[in-house]
Amino acid sequence: MSKPTPPLTSGAKPIVGHALEFRSNRPQLIERGFAEHGNVFAIKLANQNVAVVIGTENQKTFFMETDKRLNIQEPYQFLRAIFGDILFLAPHDEYMRQRPFVQELFKRDKMLHYVDVMQEVVQDWLDTLEDEGEMELVKELGWLVQEVAGNCFLGPDAHKEIGREFWDLYADLSASLDPLLPPDWPLPKFRKRDRAKARMIEILQPIIAKRRANPEQYDDFLQDIIMKDDKYGNKLDEELVLNMLVGFMFAGHETTAGQAAWTIILLLQHPDVLERVQAEIETVAPYPVYIDPKRMLQFDQITYTIHEVERLRPSADLLMRTVNEDTEFGDYVVPQGWLVQVAQEIGHNLPELFAEPQEFDPLRFAPDRAEDKQDRFALFGFGGGVHKCTGMNFANNEMTIITALLLREFDLELVTQDTTIVRGLGANHPSPTVVRYRRKPTLRNQDVMETAVSAD
Ligand code: HEM
Repeated sequence: MSKPTPPLTSGAKPIVGHALEFRSNRPQLIERGFAEHGNVFAIKLANQNVAVVIGTENQKTFFMETDKRLNIQEPYQFLRAIFGDILFLAPHDEYMRQRPFVQELFKRDKMLHYVDVMQEVVQDWLDTLEDEGEMELVKELGWLVQEVAGNCFLGPDAHKEIGREFWDLYADLSASLDPLLPPDWPLPKFRKRDRAKARMIEILQPIIAKRRANPEQYDDFLQDIIMKDDKYGNKLDEELVLNMLVGFMFAGHETTAGQAAWTIILLLQHPDVLERVQAEIETVAPYPVYIDPKRMLQFDQITYTIHEVERLRPSADLLMRTVNEDTEFGDYVVPQGWLVQVAQEIGHNLPELFAEPQEFDPLRFAPDRAEDKQDRFALFGFGGGVHKCTGMNFANNEMTIITALLLREFDLELVTQDTTIVRGLGANHPSPTVVRYRRKPTLRNQDVMETAVSAD
């Protein structure tokens, strides 16, 4: 006998189903579905059926099934309207052409260079701060990760050339993200999106033209995208180069900014963890020691903290696939034509995997507990399987550098005590959070500009 389809969560309204609640309070909806039906249940977004699947077996199926059966391209059409046919937004053959090309850009030797750039950019920022003051951390780190992305992916000159106008245009792209509405509807937010994208292309084009005209002068990420051959010996065409740049700098900033800010906020909310992290920084790379690859690997406490932030505050928390062939999840079959989604808000909080899952407890990732190692699909803040985030190491390195450099130079204190999660339909992030900072007494009034990046 064939299996039934997943049972519907309560609260579906006529015509819209759960769409309004999905927009306004997705965690509440998902938690109710889980409480009512367990690991596999349905919600309805207008006339679209969506299966929500939880637990490591189901998460494995979600991430490991082929694109042919559980398709990643179709549910993310709202991203394709911005970024065009890049990576998983492209048809499968085109994706398979681009994937090795892109993976090459994030290989270890390139990453070592990015980590150097990250240190320079973060130290430059710290050098601009007064000895004491207050800052709105979420905004400040939002700006900082844009600086890092621009300097890593475009190089310092081109990053200066695009200026703030380029980055400010991302706000219109983010505001347009909407998995529920057809992305070509004539709505003001979609018109703004298209105008912003066109202007971004206009800003990038002369930079690319200059690079093409003088290829021997450059050797960096941007030059690789423009000049390197794909696996068939062809260069990427102009449109794809432009789309990839806009796409990488998007992927590289919003998500990272959110988790970087949560890392600092959660540390300040948990003084015992903060103390361990600060002691580690003092041992591994006290100010102004340069963080070389060997030192980078010694930041265990920071790494556990960053994993715990990924578990409790994942910034990319709406991962979907379109079901193109009936697929079994546990006791149910999800029919062709449905969407399927995983849910970190439950999947990352399963008590059978994570002890006292609501607690902020980075040591759960230490080798003696290694709760995430119980299953390959226990932690999936960066996704899993073939589509696992290409920029994961980049993002984790960046969060490590920001945390280490900021905390070794400044004592911080939360002024805002009630930070909450701001959820939209794109990446989520902390609400505005004011932090009081004070340069450590021993480091005051020193000329920190030169030494921080070069000394060892
Ligand atoms: C904290 C920061 C980040 C988070 C939380 C994050 C999260 C994710 C997630 C969850 C996916 C999988 C989507 C799915 O399966 O539906 C993904 C894919 C991807 N991410 Fe990230 N990401 C981050 C940073 C970055 C950075 C810095 C880059 C590069 C600039 C990047 C580039 C990509 C790419 C290219 C893919 C597609 C991989 C493929 O399909 O082959 N991400 N990311």
